[in-house]
Amino acid sequence: MTKTDRDILNDIAGNDKSKLSHVPKKIRNSNVIEQVHIVMATDINGVGRLFGGRLMEWIDILSAVVARDYTHLDVTTVKVEELVFEEPAYINDTIIMRGRVVSQGMTSVTVEIITYARKLTGEEFPINTALLKMVAIDSLGHAINIP
Ligand SMILES: CC(C)(COP(=O)(O)OP(=O)(O)OC[C@H]1O[C@@H](n2cnc3c(N)ncnc32)[C@H](O)[C@@H]1OP(=O)(O)O)[C@@H](O)C(=O)NCCC(=O)NCCS
Repeated sequence: MTKTDRDILNDIAGNDKSKLSHVPKKIRNSNVIEQVHIVMATDINGVGRLFGGRLMEWIDILSAVVARDYTHLDVTTVKVEELVFEEPAYINDTIIMRGRVVSQGMTSVTVEIITYARKLTGEEFPINTALLKMVAIDSLGHAINIP
């Protein structure tokens, strides 16, 4: 049977995804989502700096918020693809984290989070960059396609 133009358009629109799974998907416009903290005494490590594990926790949470906003699905972290601590932050610094989706697969999105420290003077500079791969999951925890 010969395919009609409509069949071909339907294929391209994603009605036959199996044939298109090798094609990288374009991402929709991703909202930039911000999370803000003040570094408290409980966030400090033994050398008086913001504890890296605390920042990783904040990054993981923001990454989930960004991925949920984009997919409208529950998500789980499958991989931290990049995590670079560029500068230290100290007690009483304001921490500003900005996250957005930068790429999309069939069931996953990659989220970029850039974290900044802001001093009371207003000086603000990046302290960390991170890339996390988040997978959309169903109620049983299985990966599901992102619509
Ligand atoms: C995430 C999880 C649901 C994926 O299950 P799975 O059976 O591997 O599912 P799939 O093979 O269909 O892969 C799903 C997606 O994850 C990606 N993926 C799976 N393993 C990966 C790995 N090691 N590295 C990078 N990406 C990976 C796949 O590329 C796929 O993305 P795509 O569809 O956009 O191409 C499963 O591994 C899991 O539950 N892991 C634990 C997650 C968790 O508990 N996170 C919190 C950490 S404390």
